[in-house]
Order: sequence, then C-alpha cells, then structure tokens
Amino acid sequence: SIEEMEQRVLEIKQAFGSKLYIPGHHYQKDEVIKFSDVTGDSLQLAQAAAVNKDAEYIVFCGVHFMAETADMLTSEGQKVVLPDMRAGCSMADMADIDQTDRAWAQLQQLFGDTILPLTYVNSTASIKAFVGKNGGATVTSSNAKKMLQWAFTQKERILFLPDQHLGRNTAYDLGIPLEKMAIWNPITNQLEYDGDVEDVVVILWKGHCSVHENFTVSNIEHIRKTEPDMNIIVHPECSREVVGLSDYAGSTKYIIEMIEAAEPGSKWAIGTEMNLVKRIIDQNPDKKIVSLNPYMCPCLTMNRIDLPHLLWALEGLEKGELTNQIIVPAEITKDAVLALDRMLANV
Ligand code: 13P
Ligand code: SF4
Repeated sequence: SIEEMEQRVLEIKQAFGSKLYIPGHHYQKDEVIKFSDVTGDSLQLAQAAAVNKDAEYIVFCGVHFMAETADMLTSEGQKVVLPDMRAGCSMADMADIDQTDRAWAQLQQLFGDTILPLTYVNSTASIKAFVGKNGGATVTSSNAKKMLQWAFTQKERILFLPDQHLGRNTAYDLGIPLEKMAIWNPITNQLEYDGDVEDVVVILWKGHCSVHENFTVSNIEHIRKTEPDMNIIVHPECSREVVGLSDYAGSTKYIIEMIEAAEPGSKWAIGTEMNLVKRIIDQNPDKKIVSLNPYMCPCLTMNRIDLPHLLWALEGLEKGELTNQIIVPAEITKDAVLALDRMLANV
C-alpha cells in the first residue's frame, strides 16, 4: 500500500541519515517532493549539489541532465542515482553533440572567432563540455539575463543552446531586436535568417520544451476575455508571443515567490508544468489560481519518478546494490565543469 511504501522510505532515510540526500525539482510529483531534503529550481538544485559534502548517495528526483549536473558538481566518492533511467528531457535531446560540432564548424566559417556558446542547463553533459571548452557557460532560467550580459563582455555574438524560447526571450529583454536573432536548424544544418548575416547577434538553436509549447496565444486571449482582472505569469520556455502577452515571466522559483507574495484574493493564470501549478494552488488557498492551459500540462518524463521508483532506488542502496548510478565520464566532466563554474561564479 501507499502507506507501507511511505513508511519504508522514511525508515531508509532515517537509517542513512546525512549520508543520503534527496533533491527534488519543483516539477516533481507531491508523492516524491514529500521526501525530498531540498526542493528548488534547476539553479538551486545545482548549487545544493555543489555544496553538499556529507552525502554518499544523492538520489536525484528530477530528470537525467540534472542528475548528470549533480554528478559533475559533487566530489569523488559521492554517488548520484536517478530512480528511473527513462526520466529524460525532450528539450535536452534536441541538441546532440554531433549536430553541435557540425553547427560550430559552419558558424566558425560564417562568423569567425566572434561567437561564444551558452547552453541552458537543460542539455546533456557533452553539450556542456562543448560549451566549456569554447569559453562559454551554462545558464538557468533564473540567471539567463545575467549570463547573457556576461557573454557579451566576452564576444560579440552568442550561440544559445538548446531552447530557442529562453534564448529569444532573454535576448529580447536585454533590448536585442528580433531582427538580429537567427535560428540554427540542426536538422538541415543551416542558419535560418532573412537578412545580411553580418547583422546577426544571437543564434538560437531550434529546440523547445514540449510542455511549455502547450501554452498559447489563444489561451491568453481566452483569459483576457473571460477574466480581465486575472494576472498571467509564465515560464520563459514559453514562446515570445506568449511571454510578450503575459504580465510576468520567470523561472519556477520566481513564479512561486510572486504568487506567495501576491495579495489575498488576487487571481492568477500560470503557464508552467502541472505538478507545480497544482502545488501552488494547494499552497495558496487565499488566491484564485488556474492553469493558463485548462487541460494542465504535465512533463511526462518528470512524472516517471514516482513513489514506487523512489522506494525501489532506496531499497537498492539499502541492499548495498548501486543501480541507476549516473556517471559522467571524467573527460566530459573536466570541460563541462568549466561551463558550470563560470555560471556559479556569476550568480
Ligand atoms: P527551472 O527549474 O530553471 O525553472 O526550469 C524549468 C524546467 O523546465 C526544468 O526542466
Ligand atoms: Fe525538459 Fe520541458 Fe520537461 Fe523541463 S519541463 S524536463 S525542459 S521537457
């Protein structure tokens, strides 16, 4: 039963004490968040992994790229476990390293040594290593603006991987006009741009989040028509049109804090993942809160981590069997931490 599973999780957590650490991303289910030692957005979880020196086992409740990041930021001897190996991220899968190497070779021909690569942390360790090797940094949705500003102190052009929307929204916020942004299409291996390439300042990798693409302009129009006094707040993985028509946009941490601080009785439509929206609704009974897309939008891969998988991973550790360990090869880690450290030093 659920109660028995919960009891077992608690027993194992108690037996391991501080040797076991369970980070949980905001998009995880309540049944898992309940047992996490720290909850946060991607940046907070990366920082938490970097400073934890006690835990021998880090059972990561999030998706594969987050567990890879935790493995790279922890020390020798600390082991990271992902409770279900199928918990990937479709956005991270949209940029593979061969495509990126091919793109880089062509972009160097077009622009010479004027480009710096930046990657959203929602990317594989190999992409982070590519970025680190070429002088760039990782970014998260809560520091993208700061990191893009930093990037322009290094080079005059940026290649932003793999989420075109976070890249476009952040560059737009910094005052870069849309006409100066081109798209890199990794399938055709071509730059999509209408004008003179010399004018390009930001090159956006053509990737996106399959959860946030479900929030649309017509969802916003519907709210504006039916609930004119409702505030609309979205994650910057939503399209430029959606972010442009919303009242506020920011990372999961930003969304949580904005709504916590809002006036009792205020009304909110939120454009982000379903588990988080449900939790915000539960935690703010004094406000009227709905999902911007009335059908709610789950991240199917985040949802693969559930109570049975968490318990299975913990029982493995109890038996002394290390299953689903995430190990990033040393030669990738070496370059990828350059990119991660440039981010952590700037935020
Ligand atoms: P943040 O945790 O940075 O808000 O990102 C959301 C996300 O899509 C994680 O997969
Ligand atoms: Fe990836 Fe989007 Fe799911 Fe985040 S919400 S893990 S970006 S698919």
